[in-house]
Amino acid sequence: MAAFARELCIKAAKEAATHSYSPYSNFKVGAFGVFENEKGEQKGFSGCNVENAAYGPTNCGERSAIFAAVSAGFIYLVEMWVYTPTQEVAAPCGVCRQVMYEFNPEAKVICVCDDPKVVLEKTVAELLPFAFGPKDLGK
Ligand code: THU
Repeated sequence: MAAFARELCIKAAKEAATHSYSPYSNFKVGAFGVFENEKGEQKGFSGCNVENAAYGPTNCGERSAIFAAVSAGFIYLVEMWVYTPTQEVAAPCGVCRQVMYEFNPEAKVICVCDDPKVVLEKTVAELLPFAFGPKDLGK
């Protein structure tokens, strides 16, 4: 159960997008993940895409949020909100789907944009069917 209101999550994802470092693509992504730690406490973590002149080291907004959360001991993903300043939603890339799968296949992913009528809401498992994950390594 997520303890954060929808409007708060969207606001936080939008705020994160303002910090996007994306001089190469000019495509801003803001993410706000709600996570739980082992005590069952919930906390939100923001992330933005961080690009690099060598392209390959670029990190997506979703993974920036996840790595911040895991670094703080919050490893169970409850919800991931993704905002792009566009008229269509942008769904998470394959790498981010795989990373989210690691931290809860049943987490909700909610993608929003500047048209409030256009929203994509799926679980990670729906976005990444037949996934390879911890279960395949007996975890
Ligand atoms: N990007 C994200 O931040 N999240 C995604 O799931 C898709 C792509 C970023 C990476 C890059 O900085 C820019 O969007 C264009 O691909």
